[in-house]
Parts: sequence; C-alpha cells; structure tokens
Amino acid sequence: MKNIDAIGHVRGESIYLDDIPLIQGTLFGAAYGSPVAHGFIRALDISAAEQHPGVVCVLTYRDVRGENQIGGIIPDEPLFAEQHVHFCGMPMAFVIAVSEKAAREAVGMIKAEIEPLPVITDPREAQTNGALIIPPRTFRLGDVDEAWSLCTHIVEGRADTNGQEHLYIETQGAYAIPQENNVLRVYSSTQAPTAVQRAVAKVTGLPMHALDISVTRLGGGFGGKEDQANVWAALCALACMRVGKPVKYSVPRTEDMIMTGKRHPYSSDFKIGLDKDLKILAYEVTFYQNAGAAADLSPAVLERTLFHCTNSYFVPHVRATAYSCRTHLPPNTAFRGFGGPQGMFVIEAAIAKTAEILGIDAAVIQKRNLHQTGDTFPYGQPAESEAHACWQKAEDLYVVTAIRKEVEEFNHSHILFKKGMAFMPVCFGISFTKTLMNQARALVHVYTDGSVLVTTGAVEMGQGVNTKMMQVAATVLSIDPGLVKIQSTSTYKIANTSPSAASATADLNGKAVQMACTEILRRLKEVAARELGVAVELIELKKGMVRVDGVPSDMDWKKLVLAAFARRVSLSEHAHYATPGIHFDPEKEKGHPFAYHVYGTAIVVATMDCLRGRYTIDAVRVVHDFGVSMNSLIDKGQIEGGIVQGIGWMTMEEVLYDTSGRLRSNTLSTYKVPDIYSVPEEISIEALHTERDNLAIFRSKAVGEPPLMYGIGAYFALRNAIRAFNPSADLPFSAPLTPEKALMGLYDKQHVTA
Ligand code: MTE
Ligand code: HPA
Ligand code: MOS
Repeated sequence: MKNIDAIGHVRGESIYLDDIPLIQGTLFGAAYGSPVAHGFIRALDISAAEQHPGVVCVLTYRDVRGENQIGGIIPDEPLFAEQHVHFCGMPMAFVIAVSEKAAREAVGMIKAEIEPLPVITDPREAQTNGALIIPPRTFRLGDVDEAWSLCTHIVEGRADTNGQEHLYIETQGAYAIPQENNVLRVYSSTQAPTAVQRAVAKVTGLPMHALDISVTRLGGGFGGKEDQANVWAALCALACMRVGKPVKYSVPRTEDMIMTGKRHPYSSDFKIGLDKDLKILAYEVTFYQNAGAAADLSPAVLERTLFHCTNSYFVPHVRATAYSCRTHLPPNTAFRGFGGPQGMFVIEAAIAKTAEILGIDAAVIQKRNLHQTGDTFPYGQPAESEAHACWQKAEDLYVVTAIRKEVEEFNHSHILFKKGMAFMPVCFGISFTKTLMNQARALVHVYTDGSVLVTTGAVEMGQGVNTKMMQVAATVLSIDPGLVKIQSTSTYKIANTSPSAASATADLNGKAVQMACTEILRRLKEVAARELGVAVELIELKKGMVRVDGVPSDMDWKKLVLAAFARRVSLSEHAHYATPGIHFDPEKEKGHPFAYHVYGTAIVVATMDCLRGRYTIDAVRVVHDFGVSMNSLIDKGQIEGGIVQGIGWMTMEEVLYDTSGRLRSNTLSTYKVPDIYSVPEEISIEALHTERDNLAIFRSKAVGEPPLMYGIGAYFALRNAIRAFNPSADLPFSAPLTPEKALMGLYDKQHVTA
C-alpha cells in the first residue's frame, strides 16, 4: 500500500502549519534572540520597536502570566531570558505586529546591553568545572578492573562526534487562535502535542483543558520537534491572550537554525580489551555529552547512549559512564537515534583502532563478538539476537568476498583514488527508555454509512504512520482501507499523548487502534449473530462480508453497521494501550527497558579522491530485520532516508560554533546536507524476515531510527580508504569526516612539508 499522503504531497494539497487559512485579523510574531551566548542583561530597550508602524506590542518575561518556564524534564529553561542569557538566540522579546515584515523590522530595533560572561562550548571543559545537568550515570556489567589482566590486547583512545542540524523542510512554528470561554486553540508543528499543551499551560497559567493543541502534519521533525516546538507555541499563546487576536509565528530558516538545539555532540574516551582469540573481554567508556544551556531531553538522550554503548556486541565486562555537560550552546535535543548513534560510534572506533594496530580487518573483530540470543546487555535485558543472522545473510547475499576483492583490485590499480569498505552492524532498542511514556490511545468511530474515522496520538511527520494506522483498522475490521480515514491529532481528541518518537509511534498507537477496532468488531459480531440467528462463534467478518461458519451471508459491512445502530449498539470506542513487561530501575541501572530490539547489518563502500580529499559513498548494502513488514514501501523509504541522513552526519554536515558560542553554519550555504549528488549510487535493502512473537504491531518491527546508524559505516569505509592510500595516516576518530579533514588526514605532516 502506498503512503496515503503521496498524492496530496505531490499536488501540494497537504496541509502544513503555513497552509492553514488565516483568520481575519491575524497578527504575526517575531522573536528577538540574545546576540551573545552568556551574560548578564543590563538593559533591554524595546521602545523603538514599540513605536514602529504596524507593531501592536512587544512581550518580555514581564508579560508571562503563569511561570516563565518551559523545561520538560528539569525546570531549568526560562521561556524569556530575565537577568541572564545562556545561549545565542535565547528569546528575550517577542514582537507582535500586523505583518511579518513589520514584526521583523521591529526586532531589528531592539537593543540589549549585556555584560558578557565566560562562554564554554566544550563539554570536557564544562565537566571539569562541575557544570553538569544531572549527576553522572554508570552502567556496569561484570568486573572491568579484574578483566584487564585477562586481556592480550588493550587499546585506548578518544572519539568525537559533532552535532547535526535537523533541517526539517518545514521550520518550527505555531498559530494560536482565541476561542470562546477562555479556550485557546494552538496549531503547532510538534511531535508532542501534550508537551506543548503542558508548556503552554505553565506559561499562560491556563488549565490543560483550556488548551486545544492541534497538529495537522509535520514537514519533518527528526526529533527536533519532540521538545523544541514548545517555545513558539508558548510565545504565540501568550501573545494571543494579550491582544485577544490570533497570532502566528512561522520561524524563518536562519532563525530556526540559530535558536534551536541539534543532535548532541559527544566527546568520549574508550579502553577496550580483547583476548588472544579477539574476543572482547572488557570495555570502558566515558561519554561527555554537550547538552547545551538547558536540560531539554539531554538526560534521556544520555541514557540511550549508555543503553547502546556496546551496539550489537556481547562484552562480559563493561563500565560506561556518561556526563551531561552544561555549555552555552542552544539546548541540544532529540535527533533520530536519540544518543544511540553517538554511543555506537565510540565502540566502532575502539574496534577499528584495535584492528588497525593488529593489522587486521575490523570485520573479523566485529563478527566474532556479535551477541547471541541469551547474552545480556549491560543493563540486564537478555538479547533475542538477530545480529548473526543479519551479518551472515549480508555476507552471503552481497558476496562479500567479491566486494573485498573488487576493493583490493581497485586499490592495486589506482594511485590517487582508493576505496574502502566497512561493516556496520546495528542493534537498537524499541520503547521509550522512560517506561511510563510507553502508552497510547486511539479513538475509533464507525458512522452509519460504514465509513470509519480513526484518531490517535500519532503525529504524521513523513514517516507514514497514518498509512499504517489505516492498515491496522482496515485489517482488524476486514474492510477496504478506502472506508477508513485518519484524523490529525489534537489534545481535545486524544489526551496525555507521548511524543511521536522513539520509533515507537506505530507500535503504541497501532496497538491502541487494534484494541479499539477489536472491541467494535466484537460488538458487531454479536449483532450479526442475533440478526442471522446463529451462534456468535460461527460469525466472521471477511473482506466486508459477514460469514457464517465460513459461508458468506448476504449481510455486508454496511448492513451490519446499520443493524448495530438500529439495535442501539455503540459504534465508537476509545482504547488504551500500555506496553506490557517493560521496566527499568535507575538506581541499579538494570531492567528490561525495551519491548524488543531491531537488528541489521550494512556493508558500505566508499571511494576517496586522495589528491583532493573529495569522496563518494558508492554503495550501502543492507540486511535489515523488519520482522514482518506491514508496509515495505514505507519501511524501505525510512531506511533509505535514515541511511542518507546518517551519512550526512558522518561526512559533510558540520555544525560550527565559534568560541563565543555563535553558530557560523547558520544557512544552507554554510551547512551542507546530502543532496541527490551525494546519495550513494547503490542502496540495496534486503529483509531478514523474522516471525518471532514480539510486541511490534502485526510483528512489523519499528523502523524509524535504526537505519540512521548504518550511515556510521560511511565514516569507517572512508577511513579505510584513507589508510589504503597512507597506511601510517594518524587520523583522529572525529566525525564528520569532511573533505577538508579527509585531505588533512591523507597526508602526514612530514609528507606535507616534504
Ligand atoms: N521520517 C520522516 N520522513 N520524517 C521525520 O521527521 N523522524 C524520525 C523517523 N523517520 C522522521 C522520519 C524519527 S527521529 C523518529 S523517532 C521516527 O521517524 C518517528 O516516527 P515512528 O515512531 O512512527 O517511527
Ligand atoms: N526516545 C525518544 N524520545 C524519548 C525517549 C526515547 O527513548 N525517551 C524520552 N523521549
Ligand atoms: Mo525521534 S529522535 O525519537 O523523534
């Protein structure tokens, strides 16, 4: 089944925030963000802005009616700066005017006098100063200190990964509209309607039932709208209450890039120990997470880094410590993989470094250490492993011996171009790491003409969740999917939603749809039994027809629905799903946090132009554990997108803050994302079909985030290409490996001066 949004997108008919028809009298907002990263506010002069033609008013922290606070996990993030600013772009004032142009002009007239304070952008420096968001956390398995003495090879090193701009095509924004009876409706481009509702309730002082947060769909979120859609909604809501008119703020691209947080940069130290047979015995790792100026989702992201610090490998002795370091960057936030990719990069670097020192292929170490079913993760959950199955299938299917030979022959016959290849196994846990977030609700109405309306807490952001919800309803009710419509979500229709995130949206909301439809079906079968005068056990609904003991009757879906209505049987249901069996004890750092894991293996081949440092990623060949995909078109699209986004993070996307904390890569001319020319010529995706009993909806495993981590293979393939050119190249493990860094890495310093 195609994505139901495909035609609307292509025709430009899909409704995003900016497509919502404006109500007459709508005013427009524009925010004034701090020009410096850290300082005391001595004065804020908004008088010229207030006088500017078209300006209605200018809001500051003084205009907050409730609490000046939007922090989700920890209340450490004021909506408006009061005495301090903590990052460049931190909102200080919000101008409301009759046009966007007037609002933006007025922002240019605001003047702030800020006494600068020292700016810290480096997480290690923050940690040394004791500037932590939460106390450090340590995951332990076995006894690392004892284990070192058993190791034949011990390798230490450092690995760094930089941030990543979400670059959703639709920027952040909100549109607040006053309703009667002190109610506000806020259209928000958010992955988390309830998080927006809570934040707006806090700053406006309104109860949550007075806030209808509506989401049509997003032009991408990628985690960037899990927590950071709150600001714009809160600003618009406050302005709306102040002026009694609708207020809209659609954030321009550069402002969005400057004001919002990104993927967390990490700097990490590792120490890995292997026995003589290359079995990894011990792994010790310390992560320094660059959280930015406020907690945002950093504690949860940090936790997932720890969960995924051993990727797909079994290591009997592990000590992993993570620091969430407070710096003066905009608060960093969720981004596809949610800390997992950062953790995985480090163990892959540790393995690569070991292999380089031993003069062997990293794949030998990788393959030998893949975990098996029953091996426990450092957090105590036993693995139901598909790691070997994926790896072996990839080796066989893509004929790795031939790929290896091709690379070797190419390198033999070329001097200035070299190829490299790398394996990237992935194991990613599915569930929100915070157990209580693993719940969802669905509301299903069957109308008397037989059409069905489904609403859930799921937000469509391009990942195809609406199509999957339609499939679930149509499958359970056994009717044509054309009879089912999926409604966009709002806090008035579905309450207390978890964000659409953690790749778990289809599982959680789909299970709720399944439950609601199953209950309606149960009632309908009873009606059919009574109408046809047979035992309910004999009734079955199949392809829109009632069957009795397998024989089609003349009662179809529509007749049955009408009969139920005539008998005054409810045709609506609201269902609640909570993932069973998951738990985690943060005191012991042990538990069973994930419903299941998703596995896969990618084989990446890249070619380096060793004269210029330019490169291409030639091929990414994947065996991916789909479970039983309920929509292979959508799932393959997710994998392709994830791979390209992962390659972007590892290679060309370079978020650059200067030492004063100002974002230098704040436009698309200075921040390079993959385009059609940099997409690998070959992306092959083959399924590992697994039919195990798991908690995935229809056993179709979650697919949103795991594929991003295949992109990590691009870094190691390029590294191998560089080392094929210069075997003594001493490259730091530092991503992204931009062409500039590649060029520097290709030549030793002696080389260059010679
Ligand atoms: N795909 C598209 N097209 N747009 C997005 O914003 N977000 C990703 C992933 N795939 C995203 C996407 C992220 S970060 C997550 S967590 C999942 O989709 C969320 O949706 P799911 O839970 O339905 O997989
Ligand atoms: N993934 C994504 N978002 C989240 C998570 C998670 O595990 N926990 C809290 N928010
Ligand atoms: Mo995805 S980072 O969980 O929104």
